Amino acid sequence: MKMSRFEKIFVNRPIKGMANAAVVSRQLDALEAPYIEEVLELGCGAGEVTAFLAAQRGYNVVGADIDLAQVALARSRYGTQDHLQFVVADASGLRFDAARSRGCPSATS
Ligand SMILES: C[S@@+](CC[C@H](N)C(=O)[O-])C[C@H]1O[C@@H](n2cnc3c(N)ncnc32)[C@H](O)[C@@H]1O
Repeated sequence: MKMSRFEKIFVNRPIKGMANAAVVSRQLDALEAPYIEEVLELGCGAGEVTAFLAAQRGYNVVGADIDLAQVALARSRYGTQDHLQFVVADASGLRFDAARSRGCPSATS
């Protein structure tokens, strides 16, 4: 589900993305996953978390979002960074045994 213009003003603030990245980082530490290399972030929004995962944790990360404007913003902010790319994709048709999403409820069912 696409966000309203008002919602975007709130969630696209870099400080909000940095706070989300810190939460995701703590959750990954708690997982104690021995080896992670390739990561897909569904509902990447402005790309702050995607960029954090690539730059600070060394993953190869794809950030996917249904909203072309969000992907364009993510690319404008972080498109030159290594080990990440941003794509337009609707996650709602995807099926997993397990998935974790932050702020993208329509993408997981
Ligand atoms: C609140 S933002 C989350 C941003 C980022 N994940 C974070 O934690 O900072 C939610 C994003 O999910 C996207 N989204 C919603 N439904 C989606 C779907 N079905 N497939 C892909 N992206 C979706 C929205 O366009 C929006 O950019």
